[in-house]
Amino acid sequence: MKNNAYPFYFITIGLVSLVLGLLCGLLAGFQYIVPDFIKTVLPFNALRPLHTLFVVSWILLAAIGGIYYYLGKNPNAKSLNPKLIQGHFWIFILTGLGIIFSYISGHFEGKEYLEFPSYFYFPIMLGWLLFGLNYFKTTKASFKSWPVYYWMWGTGIVFMLYHFTEAHLWLLPYFKGHFIQNIALQWKAGGSYVGSWNMLVYGTSLYVIAKISKDASYAHSKKAFFFYFLGLTNLMFGWAHHIYIIPTAPWIRYVAYAISMTEWIILFSILYDWKKNLSKETITNYPLAYRFMKLANFWVFLNIVLALLISIPSINLFTHGTHITVAHSMGTTIGINTLILLSSITYILESTNLISVNATRKIQLGLRVFNFSFVGFWLLLLLIGAKKGYWTCFNSSLSFGEFQHSLHWLYVLFFIFGLGMATGLYRIVFELLKILKCQ
Ligand code: HEM
Repeated sequence: MKNNAYPFYFITIGLVSLVLGLLCGLLAGFQYIVPDFIKTVLPFNALRPLHTLFVVSWILLAAIGGIYYYLGKNPNAKSLNPKLIQGHFWIFILTGLGIIFSYISGHFEGKEYLEFPSYFYFPIMLGWLLFGLNYFKTTKASFKSWPVYYWMWGTGIVFMLYHFTEAHLWLLPYFKGHFIQNIALQWKAGGSYVGSWNMLVYGTSLYVIAKISKDASYAHSKKAFFFYFLGLTNLMFGWAHHIYIIPTAPWIRYVAYAISMTEWIILFSILYDWKKNLSKETITNYPLAYRFMKLANFWVFLNIVLALLISIPSINLFTHGTHITVAHSMGTTIGINTLILLSSITYILESTNLISVNATRKIQLGLRVFNFSFVGFWLLLLLIGAKKGYWTCFNSSLSFGEFQHSLHWLYVLFFIFGLGMATGLYRIVFELLKILKCQ
């Protein structure tokens, strides 16, 4: 294996994770309709963690691969240490395989989203430490003139180390013994490490838009730095809308409510300005990277509207624990994270002339199928969530089984839209994998 190919290995394994994540999502969605489907081999309580493991791995690996690649393109930075990248890659691969094996063999120990045995904490931390060491060694010489995306990537790595550790504090006797502190900490850490990977992904989006528009001033602008500090504030305090229903100190909720959704409004405004000011020529140079980023902008907008609504405490009471929350998390991880990362990968391939006209056409077709289905999928999640919220608050005469049964046809539609979404994404991902295989 060539050392300079490692960024591509991260991206390739990220895309493979997406393929597997989509498959697990489809199987889990089918179990909504036929609950006994492959239940003895892969029950819902194993498929769901496998699905989230694969899609989160996709986001992290694609972001990390992109960052290594972009750092290698900076002529003023010190070269990256290839041994550290190699170590990072293999630690993550082996740990990932270990976690998959644990889930498939029904060995769960952790908390929501991190359901694996806690000893996996150590190799995961080691991987992030190697990444951080390499990152800061490479970029420290240019520290004073860092563009905003370097700040975002650096902060994302440091906070990921911190919040991933925080997410494991429940192992300490103090948290184990106090239910409220335990659950508050778990949800807080969950919100904050999503904030940390968002720093990596949003930093990537700013890098890509600066490069596509060939305008370096963007990444040094006041607006971009304002966005960075706002993102940081959100990362540190914005998690509190996750814990509205827990009886914690009221000021925590007020602070959270005040700052909650500001971050995305700025991201929306940056992408909007960028799109407005782009010349026709730049758009034709990067047709795919541009299309993915433009679509991400549309989904940022839709998610702002939803997030603003569900951050209102009285609405949150109604939506918490329903599929409206799933619409929020899937809406952002698919509509924002996934589209930005696909824009980053296609930017890398378009800037090196690796995508043929034919492949571009196939990917564009896949994107149309994906987006049409995703709109339906997202709206259905909202509808199913609203029905669940109504049932929980106002319709206690119906048993849970009867209520689930009444949703049967909505689940069928949900699955059909999910299938459409996966078909569109598979078209895109397999085309990208074909190109990456020839590298
Ligand atoms: C890029 C693609 C995808 C991403 C990033 C993604 C992301 C996620 C995330 C983050 C969750 C956890 C939601 C939460 O806890 O609030 C989730 C749950 C789920 N996803 Fe996906 N997803 C993707 C595609 C799909 C597809 C195509 C299907 C097919 C039907 C699907 C079906 C499900 C199901 C059934 C759940 C469990 C919801 C529940 O707890 O009842 N996902 N997904």
